[in-house]
Amino acid sequence: KYRKTLIAGNWKMNKTPTQTKAFMTELKGLLPKGRWCDIALCVPAVCIPAAVRAMRETRVAIGAENCNAHTSGAYTGEIAADMLVDAGCKYVILGHSERRAMGETDADVNAKLHTALDAGLIPIVCCGETLAQRESGVTEEWITMQIKLALAGVPEEKIRRIVIAYEPIWAIGTGETATPEQAEEVCQHIRTIIRKRFGSKNARAMTILYGGSMNEKNAFELLAQPDIDGGLIGGASLVPEKFVRIIEDAN
Ligand code: G3H
Repeated sequence: KYRKTLIAGNWKMNKTPTQTKAFMTELKGLLPKGRWCDIALCVPAVCIPAAVRAMRETRVAIGAENCNAHTSGAYTGEIAADMLVDAGCKYVILGHSERRAMGETDADVNAKLHTALDAGLIPIVCCGETLAQRESGVTEEWITMQIKLALAGVPEEKIRRIVIAYEPIWAIGTGETATPEQAEEVCQHIRTIIRKRFGSKNARAMTILYGGSMNEKNAFELLAQPDIDGGLIGGASLVPEKFVRIIEDAN
């Protein structure tokens, strides 16, 4: 592969700062030595300081699970991209289906993407179809639309700073993983969309993740697919042993 592998955890709304510290201490003790793939943990905003502090001298980068589309101002309860950078974040997850279900639109995702890029964050942009969409055969069209809208206005020189995560909604938190073939088919399709819009060099360099019930038992086969360059892991990223086993499978 011409590109980096990334194993990213998404903690969602789990763990307190105290639990974060304990998790990171345990993870540090388990992390394999040597040259490994890129590793990130995207954690709740209040856990970011504890996570950054604990992982300072390690290869594990910290990320957020969302940011606001505006740079600052009267947006009570919201967090700006440059605040995340200042707090030590490298990544930010954008457009997760759980946020889209709460009303986040493609236009919101696109606006956040531009703000995140300008702040210097690496956005992990999520896309994925529902079971009904898959069963009615519109997965490709749906993914094409989501990717095009999310990446609208991104200049060619910035596309390499973006990671895309394919997460079929029916596989998230259900224990029902997409088969390696199903996941590969869509990830390959995403690379084709990138190739058409941003050229083959950029398409070859782009990191595309699979997410949806990826765990220490199924990761190896999924990660062996040519267009799957890593994982966005929910449940299994909450347990240090499981997360480390996935990292080992990615090498
Ligand atoms: O962002 C992570 C995904 O939503 C996957 O979650 O591994 O718990 O299915 P899961």
